[in-house]
Amino acid sequence: MRGADERSKEHDGGAPAFSLRSTRLRLRQFRVEDLEPFLAYHNDPEVVRYQSWEPFTRAEGLAFVREQATRPMFQQGQWTQVAIEFEGDAALIGDCALYVDAADARLAELGITIAPARQGRGFAREALTRLLDDRFSRRALHRVVANVDPRNTPSIALFEGLGFVREGHLRENEWIRGEWCDTLVFGCLAREWGADPRRAGARAR
Ligand SMILES: CC(C)(COP(=O)(O)OP(=O)(O)OC[C@H]1O[C@@H](n2cnc3c(N)ncnc32)[C@H](O)[C@@H]1OP(=O)(O)O)[C@@H](O)C(=O)NCCC(=O)NCCS
Repeated sequence: MRGADERSKEHDGGAPAFSLRSTRLRLRQFRVEDLEPFLAYHNDPEVVRYQSWEPFTRAEGLAFVREQATRPMFQQGQWTQVAIEFEGDAALIGDCALYVDAADARLAELGITIAPARQGRGFAREALTRLLDDRFSRRALHRVVANVDPRNTPSIALFEGLGFVREGHLRENEWIRGEWCDTLVFGCLAREWGADPRRAGARAR
């Protein structure tokens, strides 16, 4: 990983733009120019398969990206989509989504998507490690959960590899595209995050 916090004053002549760098990636706020690569992976049937969202029309995608580009990040009661850019070609390759609880800002839910052509190279692990290093080290969060479909093998491997604890298996708790789906709940506490040697390995990659 490169240095700690590399926020820079980029956009609005005062407020620091969100920007975190890791070995190969930059995490940043969405921009309107991200629309095409965002729609390409967001609407890919393989990506949507175990997600509760529906594909976006172009107009919906544009509205979504515009909102993410202009709204303050990490507000309570809202999902923030953090853009993941590969520094090798400056391409948008996916996003981390963080929902900060409406009642208590120290609780959050996490999701992540990597474009199919970029999967299997450790990018999800690297992006989440960097984002959670930031959120936990700022004491912004106490607990993070990820809800995963038990059939979503890559996602289970991802959260187990990051040291999240498998806390529960909810049976048929969501109706998604014509079927009842189970949910595995993975959780991680701030005090566990810094202490787990598995993540030291991720940082060193
Ligand atoms: C889940 C997802 C983000 C993983 O992205 P990725 O960049 O391919 O993941 P990584 O390369 O960082 O791999 C993370 C772990 O998953 C494992 N993994 C990745 N793809 C896998 C696959 N197809 N089968 C089994 N394990 C897999 C890796 O081996 C790695 O485990 P390790 O750390 O023990 O070596 C990606 O598959 C995706 O976007 N899926 C669609 C959206 C989705 O379901 N998101 C999860 C919602 S919470």
